[in-house]
Amino acid sequence: MADLIGVDDLGRDGIQHLLELAAMLEARGVAGAPPALAGVVVGLIFAAPSVRTRSSFQSAALRLSAQVLDVAGDHGLPYAAEALSDVLRSVDLLCDLLVVRHPWSPEAAARSGLARIPIVNAGLMCGEHPTQTLADLYTLQQAFGSLDGLRLGLVAEEAGRREVTSLRHAARFFPEMELIMYGLAEEPGGEPELPARPVGALPDEAAQLSAVYVTPSTTRSVHWSQDVAGALRAAVQRNPELVLLHPLPRGAELPADLDGHVRSAYFRQARNGLWVREAVLGSLLGRL
Ligand code: CP
Repeated sequence: MADLIGVDDLGRDGIQHLLELAAMLEARGVAGAPPALAGVVVGLIFAAPSVRTRSSFQSAALRLSAQVLDVAGDHGLPYAAEALSDVLRSVDLLCDLLVVRHPWSPEAAARSGLARIPIVNAGLMCGEHPTQTLADLYTLQQAFGSLDGLRLGLVAEEAGRREVTSLRHAARFFPEMELIMYGLAEEPGGEPELPARPVGALPDEAAQLSAVYVTPSTTRSVHWSQDVAGALRAAVQRNPELVLLHPLPRGAELPADLDGHVRSAYFRQARNGLWVREAVLGSLLGRL
């Protein structure tokens, strides 16, 4: 695998391999991380804010003994319109892999033959967030032992959210896991973007679900967020075994009182980002 832009770059085998690698790395712990990336320089380009993805890639690189080069600098990219191919041509001798959160099209780099070093999409290219999906699947596997027979409710206001797109792509490789969409906004023509259940149905259907993955409002709709928060509270009352996931950062759709729910897993999901990103870096660079 040269780059990781979307989940389709991995396929089922690639995802399973990375989840197994992540489990091995978690078992070794931060103190036992192998120095697999000694001598490697990992470049970061973040043109949009990030707490979890940026810091977990950085920490993953450091834990595996790589050095980290912040290509974009403290103030972000100074040239907003600069093409990815130009950036690659400028920095590909400076680092061995680039982690990128930018809405660049990766095709421009591939077509120009400039992608000498692997590029990892950190959550904007092609509207995908593949390493978030790896952390999501890893967390589900950890909670249930396997993805087999899982019924996952995915709550989204719109279909275009990056973690929703990547998770839906991944679900195609895992037919043994059923994805049930809730709460997608209607298209201007009145038809839903995707077949989806109303958010209000969640409490009644909670007993048939293994987990609910809630995503933030894309339009910052207070109304939608309040509806989701109410439905979630009722759902965990009906099914106390329901695992709750969220990519974070949260909005009003995930009220803080749900942190006390015994199966809220979103902070573990964020922490699992370390193991899956260690696996991605080690695997793409052929060191793990
Ligand atoms: N989930 C996620 O991508 O978080 P950050 O934006 O903080 O990286």
